[in-house]
Amino acid sequence: MKLAIACDHGGFSLKEAVKKYLLEQEIEVEDFGCHSRESVDFPDYARKVGESIMAGKNELGILCCGTGIGMSIAANKIKGIRAAVVGDVFSAKATREHNNSNVLCLGERVTGEGLAVLIVETWLQAEFLGGRHEKRVGAIGELEKHLC
Ligand code: RB5
Repeated sequence: MKLAIACDHGGFSLKEAVKKYLLEQEIEVEDFGCHSRESVDFPDYARKVGESIMAGKNELGILCCGTGIGMSIAANKIKGIRAAVVGDVFSAKATREHNNSNVLCLGERVTGEGLAVLIVETWLQAEFLGGRHEKRVGAIGELEKHLC
């Protein structure tokens, strides 16, 4: 399992905490930054992670910002990315099982480190259920072809 991780200044501490957890689990992590509290623009980091997944360099991604929301909006603009903002364990499991999400977005100003790590653990352990969800995930892909 290879995992891409990134953050903006608002998610820097949470990214570091999540990365530490992942490395402890011996999960290979590619860290796309940022590396400090200096102000940066989150779409640049969502793009790095999304593109690395679509290029097949990483299987899944985790993005941290203040709320997780800006990162998810930006990441979901990349074809093939299904990014979910998650702040609870139930949704962490459901978004892998039902949505086959490939990017998890976390908000440092919303979710404490302990819960965030539990969310990451749950998300990584859950698996896409396929079946009836396959058609729906496929329909999300069809929306990407919508020209307007
Ligand atoms: C940065 O101040 C903040 O806007 C960003 O981290 C994020 O919360 C955006 O959605």
